[in-house]
Amino acid sequence: MKILILGVNGFIGSTLTDKIMETTDWEVYGMDMDSDKLEKSIDHERFHFVEGDITINKEWIEYHVKKCDVVLPLVAIATPSVYVSDPLRVFELDFEANLEIVRQCVKYKKRVIFPSTSEVYGMSQDDSFNEETSQLVLGPINKQRWIYSCAKQMMDRVIYAYGVKEDFDYTLFRPFNWIGPRLDRVDSQKEGSSRALTLFISNILHHGEIKLVNGGEQRRSFTYIDDGIAALMKIIENKDGCATRRIFNIGNPTNDYSVKDFVSLLLEKFKGYPEYKSIAEATKVTVIDGEAHYGKHYEDAGFRVPSIQNAKDHLNWKPTTSMDDALTKTLDYYLVEKKEEATIQAA
Ligand code: UGA
Repeated sequence: MKILILGVNGFIGSTLTDKIMETTDWEVYGMDMDSDKLEKSIDHERFHFVEGDITINKEWIEYHVKKCDVVLPLVAIATPSVYVSDPLRVFELDFEANLEIVRQCVKYKKRVIFPSTSEVYGMSQDDSFNEETSQLVLGPINKQRWIYSCAKQMMDRVIYAYGVKEDFDYTLFRPFNWIGPRLDRVDSQKEGSSRALTLFISNILHHGEIKLVNGGEQRRSFTYIDDGIAALMKIIENKDGCATRRIFNIGNPTNDYSVKDFVSLLLEKFKGYPEYKSIAEATKVTVIDGEAHYGKHYEDAGFRVPSIQNAKDHLNWKPTTSMDDALTKTLDYYLVEKKEEATIQAA
């Protein structure tokens, strides 16, 4: 199998590529603007990497869509602070740039595996979000935070419509707060440039303060990256067409934590690393209003638990990594494996 991965140096793309190189005989053709997360696979004979921007290198992409069997267009802005600071860039990249690629997949009859998101459910009130029955609930237009959710939802609808109209072969997968090594850099001093876990790690290392937005009572179901990648491997493999024209929540309902409890657990875990014990103990946990933190265009989902019945039934998949193990593995990566980065910046 030949697989095209756009955004191959991202959190999901790089971890997936390593897994493919380690466990299959598949070829991966990948594009990204950087390759710093690809050190394990970059020299592999079945991995073909090109440095480039998907909005510029259109001929290369079209050629490789034709050449490959499966396409994963993973390029997207996925950090909430950017949804409110630069919503048009989110629309242009996450929707417009990806639409061109999806249309090429339709034209050349190639299977697409597209990253939808847990964010499409927005402020849905269901205890457990279901791919086929849950309402997708977004706030008013002035709450620009939802542009990401809305752009992803629109793409889900476009892809679904191609499936109905032209038997287009696709799978939509919805990651629920995937966490793990390589999520985002933690040496950045810049506030708000990453997802919560990596931001909190960076806060402990550099700022001595973690801010709980709106008190941190809001909940997320955190999913360890290896569990997510295991599901993606089954989707790519698509045994007997089990993933074709289906939508899958890929999340861990048992790791449903309030942000506040998540932070407490993270600080406890940090204290288990002797070198970082004192900075973890000295870290202040404060509360900040959501609009004060992100700006007036922010609004948040209060809870978000996936139903994973669909993935269990059709992919024979379920997550196995507890929150405790997920945090240990992630901190081992950032504080031990990438120790130099963390220590230099902490000094
Ligand atoms: C994320 C992002 O939209 C995407 O990465 C992704 O599509 C999706 O959800 C997902 O991974 O499922 P969100 O969960 O709001 O959205 O993103 P985070 O920035 O990781 O924030 C998680 C929670 O922590 C939010 O309630 C946020 O308000 C809170 N938070 C964040 C704080 O309390 N303090 C901070 O300093 C940062």
